[in-house]
Amino acid sequence: MTLPGVLLLDAAGPEAGLLATVAAGRGHQVHAATTAAAYVDYGPELKGLLAGHIVTDFARPDRALDEIAVYARRRGVGAVLTVNEYLTELAARLCAELGVPGNDPGRARAARDKAAMAEAFAAAGVRAPYTVLVRDEDGLRFALADPQVGFPCVVKPPSGAGSAGVTVVSGPADAAEAADVAHKAVGMYGSGGDPGILVQAYAAGTEYSVESLTQDGATTHLAVTRKQVTGGAKRVETGHSLPVFLPPAVEAAVYREVEAAIRAAGIRHGASHTEVILGADGRCVVIELGARLAAGQIGVLIQHALGIDVWAALLDVALARPAALAPTTCGYATVRFVTSPRAGRLTSVCGFPKTGPGVPFVRWRAAIGGLVHAPGANGHRLGSFVVTGPDADEAEERADALLRRIRIHVEPTPENGPGQVRPASTSAIAP
Ligand SMILES: Nc1ncnc2c1ncn2[C@@H]1O[C@H](COP(=O)(O)OP(=O)(O)O)[C@@H](O)[C@H]1O
Ligand SMILES: [Mg+2]
Repeated sequence: MTLPGVLLLDAAGPEAGLLATVAAGRGHQVHAATTAAAYVDYGPELKGLLAGHIVTDFARPDRALDEIAVYARRRGVGAVLTVNEYLTELAARLCAELGVPGNDPGRARAARDKAAMAEAFAAAGVRAPYTVLVRDEDGLRFALADPQVGFPCVVKPPSGAGSAGVTVVSGPADAAEAADVAHKAVGMYGSGGDPGILVQAYAAGTEYSVESLTQDGATTHLAVTRKQVTGGAKRVETGHSLPVFLPPAVEAAVYREVEAAIRAAGIRHGASHTEVILGADGRCVVIELGARLAAGQIGVLIQHALGIDVWAALLDVALARPAALAPTTCGYATVRFVTSPRAGRLTSVCGFPKTGPGVPFVRWRAAIGGLVHAPGANGHRLGSFVVTGPDADEAEERADALLRRIRIHVEPTPENGPGQVRPASTSAIAP
């Protein structure tokens, strides 16, 4: 019997690589839809896993949809998956077009465009921050004067990801610059430069995300993840840890909101990553939802802490097969993101961990001699590593100790030179 083909929308990155490995290992022909520029960077291992690929332009989704559908029909594709935030709407549309399990294409925009998300959440009664779509300076003034917004508030681009262009604004004086930054934020495939920006009430509390898989409309929550995020105007992720066990009543309330959000975004078959903030009073506010497996190595954390093979499960869900979602171990895993202490040229890195017992995953992605940013968005990460352990205390302590050992040397460049950075011979511990 010929197994259905599996198509990945964008196969770049470790998560997509793991999906391709599982699918190929089970005997499926694996295909990728990709851009010409991205395909150049696919490594030999990934290329070796692929039975074929189609080069398309994701910035023109209607055309991409037609081209990929023709390719997929010819190759007997029976499952379409993506781990790329920017392609979740296209994935839902393609699944509908091909008649394979997928999310509701009529609602998929709500998981990609935060203005549509705010509307969908409001219509479904999901508790989410009060949000105003602002189109010009007058609109910004009105929004900032709206008592339901107040200060601090959050200014963000509707179609961004990874904290790019998101600013927590503490007073009116900072709003214009934050709006400008949100306007100018660019994502992948022509995303960004949105005509409108969002001004949102600030939700105070502790950040978590809920990692879920929905099959035929029934949702299983795999884990609650604690997000470590910088404070201040730029909220950049510094790490994730799981599993977190909330008090049962709080967990039930969180899951209720998350499930309402999942339904509102039309998620019927597939993964979701829902970010929430829990206030001191235990009230849960949904900040955003992605119709995909969480990024930032959360899949690796789930695999190592809970023994759930998320990639196999994703594949099963996409093929409408029963997925094994029950934990088989009860450990703990945490990831640390390594960022540069300042903008400049990266001259050396010492002490970055290697894989070994209790450190199952490391990834360094910055080139020595290349330019690096002060952390302003998740894309500014230089590297990451995962630490596992029997419990939270041991794993967190070890991860912090490993982080403290990393020395990153960054020299100023003329663009961000002496006026803005400390002297050239600085060395620093990753924050
Ligand atoms: N309304 C809000 N209240 C408090 N913090 C927020 C709010 N919106 C965003 N943030 C902070 O900014 C980060 C990035 O914003 P988010 O809406 O998740 O955008 P992105 O899609 O870029 O991840 C969040 O993880 C959180 O730390
Ligand atoms: Mg987010």
